[in-house]
Amino acid sequence: MSDPVAAIAAVDPQIADVIRREVERQNTTIQLIASENFTSPAVMAAQGSVLTNKYSEGYPGKRYYGGNVVVDEAEELARQRVCALFGADHANVQPHSGANANMAAYLALLEPGDKVMGMRLDQGGHLTHGSPVNFSGRLYDFVGYGVDDDTECLDYDRIRDLALAERPKLIVAGATAYPRTIDFAVFRAIADEVGALLMVDAAHIAGLIAGGAHPSPVPYADVMCFTNHKTLRGPRAGTILCREEHAAAIDKAVFPGLQGGPLMHVVAAKAVAFHEASQPAFREYAHQIVRNARALADGLAAAGFRIVSGGTDNHLILVDLRPFGVTGKVAQESLDLAGITTNKNAIPNDPAKPFVTSGLRLGTAAVTTAGMGEEQMAEIADLIARVLRAPDDVTVRDDVRDAAARLSAKFIPYPDLV
Ligand SMILES: Cc1ncc(COP(=O)(O)O)c(C=O)c1O
Repeated sequence: MSDPVAAIAAVDPQIADVIRREVERQNTTIQLIASENFTSPAVMAAQGSVLTNKYSEGYPGKRYYGGNVVVDEAEELARQRVCALFGADHANVQPHSGANANMAAYLALLEPGDKVMGMRLDQGGHLTHGSPVNFSGRLYDFVGYGVDDDTECLDYDRIRDLALAERPKLIVAGATAYPRTIDFAVFRAIADEVGALLMVDAAHIAGLIAGGAHPSPVPYADVMCFTNHKTLRGPRAGTILCREEHAAAIDKAVFPGLQGGPLMHVVAAKAVAFHEASQPAFREYAHQIVRNARALADGLAAAGFRIVSGGTDNHLILVDLRPFGVTGKVAQESLDLAGITTNKNAIPNDPAKPFVTSGLRLGTAAVTTAGMGEEQMAEIADLIARVLRAPDDVTVRDDVRDAAARLSAKFIPYPDLV
């Protein structure tokens, strides 16, 4: 099975065609979605392996089915590697996704109706941090915190005041659209002051933490949840790290609390990704992601955009599009047509509706994996500005699409899949 797509084509030409066209899209357009990356061929091969066939309910050495001696080693390797990578006491590598990881952590630490503090969705938090349309907001009594209106950075004094007033059982730190360093030591101090547990959702910044480009929450957090597929560049899934005292509760919450059998092919792919992230080259990669984000933010600011919070410390940038008179929706759609993939995103105190928004969220993990550096970020900023100055101009759009294709051709993420 040397060419997996050819094997699919022999059975299912329609899906083979979808995969081929998606390879072409990823290879020929610029990917700036802050929650995406290009995972390695080794990670994808592990995910496409026969490990998908194995049922492994339970944990290594304590399974509900036979035949698990071999896959037990994969899960053990994944657990050991991720604990070593982040310096954690205990790991659960079975969550199918980031949302599942968060749900399992809540199941382990809370009872329904308990009070929890999390960052509001419209201020940069995730749906699973208490949104009323999500299980988190329906099962738990969430109170939301946000950023300061002027600095657009986390206002730790107000977070502390809110914690003192509300006395939550758990504080969730972490975000999905926050471009600045998060001070986990301050969150720990606030949690200690009010007798709360601290959970960090490091989904976006896990790779930066692993590579030393963002301070680690592990010394401060009771539990750290993350997705494997963003800056960490692993397979699409979640992982939970925790202090030893929470290990049994976390494991019980994931299985049998929330999930059935783990996806052993994905667990093996996580092990591969953790190995890759522990190599010296990954440290350089993580720092390059941040340098690229700064260069992209600088380029966009020079072109007249307002960058939320005035810049970035991590892999992502939130752009306020109002100076250009376009909405996030229009920007995303016109950039898509110009070969630049982004997503519309609410900015703090956004006057526009959530499906329209006034902002654009950009991230540099994927383009950095493709090998781009600061020079290319300046070029991309220029391309984005050209499109958004005239979002309806088809000639500009086509010109930019050609330029994006020329740039992408020099930085093809999957040359072997062309
Ligand atoms: C902070 C944060 N937590 C959790 C998740 C959920 O991850 P998943 O989409 O794998 O469920 C995301 C996804 O974007 C996220 O940004």
